[in-house]
Amino acid sequence: MTQYQHVTSADTVLRDGTIKLHGPEGFEGMRKAGRLAAEILDEMANRVQPGVSTEELDRVVREMTLDGGAVPATLGYRGYAHSCCISINHVVCHGIPSPKVLKDGDIVNIDVTPLLDGWHGDTSRMYLVGDVPLKARRLVEVTHECMMLGIAQARPGARLGDIGAAIQAHAEAHRYGVVREFCGHGLGRLFHDAPEVVHAAQSGTGPELRPGMFMTIEPMINLGKPWVKLLSDGWTAVTRDKSLSAQFEHSIGITEDGCEIFTLSPKGLDKPPY
Ligand code: MF3
Ligand code: CO
Ligand code: CO
Repeated sequence: MTQYQHVTSADTVLRDGTIKLHGPEGFEGMRKAGRLAAEILDEMANRVQPGVSTEELDRVVREMTLDGGAVPATLGYRGYAHSCCISINHVVCHGIPSPKVLKDGDIVNIDVTPLLDGWHGDTSRMYLVGDVPLKARRLVEVTHECMMLGIAQARPGARLGDIGAAIQAHAEAHRYGVVREFCGHGLGRLFHDAPEVVHAAQSGTGPELRPGMFMTIEPMINLGKPWVKLLSDGWTAVTRDKSLSAQFEHSIGITEDGCEIFTLSPKGLDKPPY
């Protein structure tokens, strides 16, 4: 039995398995956090190029986050010591910033989560480094379509499984693999909260979506098989078959008649030009 809980900023929110339902002040808070997150990713579009190190990009993310009056929610999160995750090519997610430099032909995901005035804006995009082969560009393009098709299902009365079903159908029509080990999540004043938003599901299953629910939709789609493995650093997830992997992420809120995307790019840079 799914439990829902109406919360205001006066309430203490616990990771107790309940789905939180927020009011106007929650939407206002998420709009601000989401906008800052999107602005940081917009700036990354200027910075991603061959020769730049991922730790340099992480430094810019940290500075922009702090300048925006926020803190990176990942910094110190379960021992994670960086301001974002940067996942290149066959890295599925949670790539750790390092001296490694981007090179021509890479595809790269940057995932940021500024925590602003108590609200988490969680979003990621893919970037193309220099000249990227068509096969890889196509994967990136279809992965963005998968996320948007999932978001198109998000409205009151729909079920959580409708989102994953739409994503899975589109990905598998292209013979891509949908990663099962990592999911979208409820968020708001907590970074990772109920419900777990799986990206491969049966339509008509799972909890009902209700106005005031906040969640991320963040499909990871592999050019090959869906299987992943974790590297010995305890964070970096890679495809088992070494195939390329792509991911996009938006934070959304369910409204009375659909949903609001909190992390849209103010500059229209939500996806790279293909
Ligand atoms: N931003 C990631 C997400 O979408 C979480 C990163 S947690 C970290 O949920 F510790 F790996 F940074
Ligand atoms: Co997330
Ligand atoms: Co994220």
